[in-house]
Amino acid sequence: KEKDKLVPRPPVVTVMGHVDHGKTTLLDRIRSTRVAEREEGGITQSIGAYQVEVNGKKITFIDTPGHELFTEMRARGAQATDIVVLVVAADDGVMPQTIEAYNHAKAANVPIIVAINKIDKPNANVEKTKQELVEKLGLIPEEWGGDTIVVPISARTGQGVDELLEMILLVAEMNEIKCYPEGPARAVIIESKLDKKMGPVASAIVKDGVLKVGDAVVASNTYGRVRNLFDDNMRPIREAYPSQPVMILGFEDVPDVHSNVYVVESAEKAKEIVEKRLQRLEAQKQSRKHINLEELMKM
Ligand code: GTP
Ligand code: NA
Ligand code: MG
Repeated sequence: KEKDKLVPRPPVVTVMGHVDHGKTTLLDRIRSTRVAEREEGGITQSIGAYQVEVNGKKITFIDTPGHELFTEMRARGAQATDIVVLVVAADDGVMPQTIEAYNHAKAANVPIIVAINKIDKPNANVEKTKQELVEKLGLIPEEWGGDTIVVPISARTGQGVDELLEMILLVAEMNEIKCYPEGPARAVIIESKLDKKMGPVASAIVKDGVLKVGDAVVASNTYGRVRNLFDDNMRPIREAYPSQPVMILGFEDVPDVHSNVYVVESAEKAKEIVEKRLQRLEAQKQSRKHINLEELMKM
């Protein structure tokens, strides 16, 4: 019975917004890193996940690209999360991908906190940006009588960033973000690829339980045994805990993004589950073909 008890886990926060509005710079500021400077063309092209500790409390952040090409990644980012931080540059206002990101967050039914960024710029206009939040998104700031938390910040100088982090922890607390800490681990894949040297690689966020090296795992239509786990600094680890971002090596094939990783009792069992899944898939395909043929005959 004890095993079924829900306990709080750190919030997973996805940072979204229009291209170059300062999402990566904000995360750099929070983590004291300099990722944005090293990005090709200054553009984020993949999802990154990082965990930080604020006043002894952990927060997991997911960075997403703002470039219009990456709609799919933004949609997935919003689905894997507990809270969305919508970054809007105060010198640019609400732009097309701000609106798109907002729609993903709304579809995923997660709370939104707005960070109005770049307030250090001489042409920053916080009031006008708030007006646009109301007009273009229907988000009314708390200070105007609405229920949207809006925090003016500068990712460059750090102004307002502590307040934003406090707001994130507050919203996390109000939303009772929980997990099953015991029992078999479950993780959700946010990125996957075939690496020339390492083979299939999956970046995931643990949702329940503790994922361990040696675990037999199933994800989408593939399986494996966890060979290596790496944390968000690419350090090898033995176990990953709820809300922790982790890189998993050991899958036979590349698992689908957004699929769940489940731990099962043995590698044999994992293989059996996947074979059954594939059989079912094949049967579905065949029956569909059959129906189509019948329909065709009637015509
Ligand atoms: P994409 O991931 O490509 O969508 O961009 P992004 O939202 O991650 O923006 P990024 O962090 O790459 O910042 C874009 C540019 O804005 C960079 O030149 C940053 O240095 C600059 N920038 C970000 N935040 C601030 C800020 O608070 N103030 C000022 N003045 N510049 C900022
Ligand atoms: Na950028
Ligand atoms: Mg970026």
